[in-house]
This record gives sequence, structure tokens and C-alpha cells, in this order.
Amino acid sequence: MVKYRTYVFDVYGTLFDVYSISEKCTNYFSDKGARISQSWRQKQLEYCFLRQIIGSYIPFHEITKEALQYVCISEQVYTTEEIITDLLQAYLKLSPFAEVKQALEMLQSETLVVFSNGSVDMLHPLLNHSGLTSYFQHIVSVDEIKQYKPSPSAYQHVCNRLNMQPKEILFLSSNTWDVAGASHFGFQTAWINRTNTTMDLLDVTPNYIVNDLQELIGQLT
Ligand code: LAC
Repeated sequence: MVKYRTYVFDVYGTLFDVYSISEKCTNYFSDKGARISQSWRQKQLEYCFLRQIIGSYIPFHEITKEALQYVCISEQVYTTEEIITDLLQAYLKLSPFAEVKQALEMLQSETLVVFSNGSVDMLHPLLNHSGLTSYFQHIVSVDEIKQYKPSPSAYQHVCNRLNMQPKEILFLSSNTWDVAGASHFGFQTAWINRTNTTMDLLDVTPNYIVNDLQELIGQLT
């Protein structure tokens, strides 16, 4: 096993499937459910990026709620506070991807860290519900410095928290914008390309490009 002092994992889209609540969206919004689930994630990220640029930080759980509210208004679907609350509660119980638990088991001798735009009140319930909390030495939220990824200051915070240099860290994410931000900052990066998409044209070549964590472990050993 090689070579990095620590392995830092993104959460949403990398360890957990944000579309694992698409079925619940369909239960509430019928044929618009799948589209609402996709648009919800896109608007959630867009609000993170815009608020970072504007300098108007609010915690991820608030962004996640406002993104859902926006999409429901734009799709002109009937909602109640109870429906919104139920969908937000489901966000705390997202499914981990199939290979995650075994992959973390195989990396047990390494230092594993979670680093997410998610707020702590989302991350802890999510990791606890899935039984994955104990695999990680640190659970780091950008809420500690109120700067969203992919801003350099967010990745700098991880180095400060871990007292490590960027090159000592392998950063793993399925999100191309996150891989790009981490690479530009100086982390070694692994793009977990779960949906066979195309890397964004952001002057970045990840150190590893794999379809899942098991494939990455195969390249590290
Ligand atoms: C995360 C998602 C937003 O930071 O990529 O977990």
C-alpha cells in the first residue's frame, strides 16, 4: 500500500449517492420526481459556488433546503413544510455506494478523513446512519471556516486541521469541480468517476481516474 499520509474523502456523490432519494421525490412529485432530484443537486451546488463568490455564506443544510424550495417553485409542484422536512430528513440517510464499506475496511490501516461542504448537523447523522463513522479519524466540515470548496481556503483548512502539507494528502472526489479545486490547491487527487462523465476543462489532470474506490485501491497496492 502506498504512499500518502492521509486519504481525504469528499462525501456527497463520492461516498454517498445523492440520487438515492430520487424515489422519494417521485413518490411526492410523480413524473417530475427524477428531474427534481437532479435539479435539486445542481441548484444546491450552484448556491454554494455563488454564495462563496458573493461572500454570503450560510450552512449547507440551509442551502440544501433553499435549493429544494427553489426547484419545487420552478417546477410548480405542490409542497408542504412536511414534504420539505421529510425530503431533508432523507438527505441524512442517503445510501453509501455499494463498494464503500469494504473499501474503507481495506484502508483501515491508513489515516482516513472526511472533508465536505456539508454542515456537521448533516454529516454526523449521515455517517452514523450508514455505520461509517468509525472508519474516519476526522470529520471536517467547511462550516468550521465558512468557506466552500472549491475555494483554496477550504482546502487550506484541511491542511491546517491535519497539520500536513498538500502533497502528503490524496483527495478523493467524484465531483470534477472538487477534484479541480483540490488539484489546483496542491493535493494529489483521485477522481472517482462513477458515472463515466468527462473531466471539466479546468487545467487539471487527476493523479488517478477510476470508476470506484475498489479500482483505486487496486492501483494503490
Ligand atoms: C461535498 C459535496 C458537496 O462537499 O461535494 O460533500
